[in-house]
Amino acid sequence: MPAASSHAISDNSFDAAARDAVYEAIFTRRDVRSHFLPETIDDSVLARLLLAAHHAPSVGYMQPWNFIVIRDARRREQIRDLFLDARRQEAENIEGDRQALYRKLKLEGICESPLNLCITCDRSRSKNSPLGRWHNPEMDLYSTVCAVQNFWLAARAEGIGVGWVSILDSDALKCLLGIPGHVVPVAYLCVGRVSEFAPRPDLETHGWGKRLPLPDLIMSEIFGGTGEQRLKRAVNATQFSAAAVNRPEI
Ligand SMILES: Cc1cc2nc3c(=O)[nH]c(=O)nc-3n(C[C@H](O)[C@H](O)[C@H](O)COP(=O)(O)O)c2cc1C
Repeated sequence: MPAASSHAISDNSFDAAARDAVYEAIFTRRDVRSHFLPETIDDSVLARLLLAAHHAPSVGYMQPWNFIVIRDARRREQIRDLFLDARRQEAENIEGDRQALYRKLKLEGICESPLNLCITCDRSRSKNSPLGRWHNPEMDLYSTVCAVQNFWLAARAEGIGVGWVSILDSDALKCLLGIPGHVVPVAYLCVGRVSEFAPRPDLETHGWGKRLPLPDLIMSEIFGGTGEQRLKRAVNATQFSAAAVNRPEI
């Protein structure tokens, strides 16, 4: 990340401090499964996070999301049990040494976090006028993911950790939360204040994966197209700058 210069690039850019704050939220956001504190989140703070989510882009301005706030401990235990079942099944399908590693990973904070949030996508909300979805009906699901990301980044700025739990049987989850057939539970999130944000992804720390080199992912003109060497050098220089501004973890 380049250190933002003190002058605005154009009239529409944020000032340097605001730009740095946006990048800081992006680069220091983490998927959080541990380090949750038991304290409740003020409604005023949760309201800001939900408002950020609600301002996500959506296909045809469909706003297909709903936000189910789950605080009840018994209900969360039931969902944690769903997770344990799903995790067992998933583990059986992971081969070799990775299965042993998988079994050691902490992959949810359903009961430790003070609240859970299920962000859903109501697939019928466009009322048969599918602007932007005629050829690609799944765009409503992608829109909902944009809302999740807005929530996640705003939460980081508020010092609140978010962990996404996808290791759940979707039908069983729908049943437990009374979600109707035409609504998809897109994200099940564990949400709460945390004692710390890890400097790097847990899955990296535990040897599951590494961040791929960005230049290897950039293509020119067509899929697989080589080129854009100058851009790739700029990308490398930018990553170097990130280290130079004292954030070697980025
Ligand atoms: C769609 C989606 C589903 C995920 N599901 C899980 C999950 O079930 N359990 C888990 O521990 N992390 C889950 N994660 C978090 C990823 O493991 C995490 O984003 C990734 O390892 C990078 O770490 P970071 O988010 O801290 O940068 C999920 C993330 C996404 C985007």
